[in-house]
Amino acid sequence: MNSPVIRPRRLRATPALRRLASETRLHPADLVLPLFVREGTEHPLPIQSMPGVVQHSLDSARRAVTEAAAAGIGGVMLFGVPSHRDATGTGATDPDGILNVATRALVAEIGDALVVQTDLCLDEFTDHGHCGVLDSHGRVDNDATLVRYREMALAQASAGSALLGLSGMMDGQVAAVRETLDSNGFADTAVLAYSAKYASAFYGPFRDAVESTLDGDRRSYQLDPANRREGVREAQLDIAEGADVVMVKPAGGYLDVLADVAAMSEIPVWAYQVSGEYAMIEAAAAHGWIDRRRAVEESVLSIRRAGADAVLSYWAVELATWLNEKDAR
Ligand code: PBG
Repeated sequence: MNSPVIRPRRLRATPALRRLASETRLHPADLVLPLFVREGTEHPLPIQSMPGVVQHSLDSARRAVTEAAAAGIGGVMLFGVPSHRDATGTGATDPDGILNVATRALVAEIGDALVVQTDLCLDEFTDHGHCGVLDSHGRVDNDATLVRYREMALAQASAGSALLGLSGMMDGQVAAVRETLDSNGFADTAVLAYSAKYASAFYGPFRDAVESTLDGDRRSYQLDPANRREGVREAQLDIAEGADVVMVKPAGGYLDVLADVAAMSEIPVWAYQVSGEYAMIEAAAAHGWIDRRRAVEESVLSIRRAGADAVLSYWAVELATWLNEKDAR
């Protein structure tokens, strides 16, 4: 009775056995770094609620993508922080708007060493801070927003973005953008659908990062955190509409949704470890309450284990550097 026949501990006995028995591995190529580029700044500016993350100037963004490529990560996801905002977010479609300018500059800087991707959403560019345009009652107008998303898609594809990250949660956004890209000579520009994007408190620090003006919430378009099946349904719809990649966001609190989507999807499934997930670990580590490196590695590993093929993480480059050190040993 005290001598079990089945002993799972055997494979845990030594580092070499554990390494061989590992079911999930992290690799720099599976990591994507979100980057904020601010209009009209000469120097990078710190983001208070995201220690270690900055709003880049164009120059510092160029250095950051060079460093990211050297670390071997898979790509960057660009967000623009414009200095002017208006009702329809004209800065998003202006070829001289910060996001489009930054895309051209970074694609020119880095070529094909990593994938330059762009956030396709209006919230950084609208004065009311919503992800779409508003109707006469102040509600987000789904179909009028699709028109703006089509225009954004053209601006971003023209600037050289390889993968458009549709994060606005409007119905039909993938089909609309796909149709516009295809009929304008951009059949090779890929679409990453933020399919299961939940109305989450964990986006809090991001709103600092992009200086969000939102007064209210996004619950009329982002998913209810209570809903699991609905996340899968959104991913199914996006796949049917022609998405190339589907995403679940946030990641850490939504591993069940991620596992469900990964089980049914025939296309790559990514997850976004969001600003609040970053800030929590950084804050706990700064207090000495948690081992920072182990917590970062475990948090991203858990997202991979749940089914993400790639992970957007603010730690992407630092984590890649750690992984490269391990490889060198
Ligand atoms: C919308 C967008 C948001 C995030 C990424 N894209 C903000 C939101 O929906 O409120 C959040 C990312 C993060 O918290 O790290 N453009």
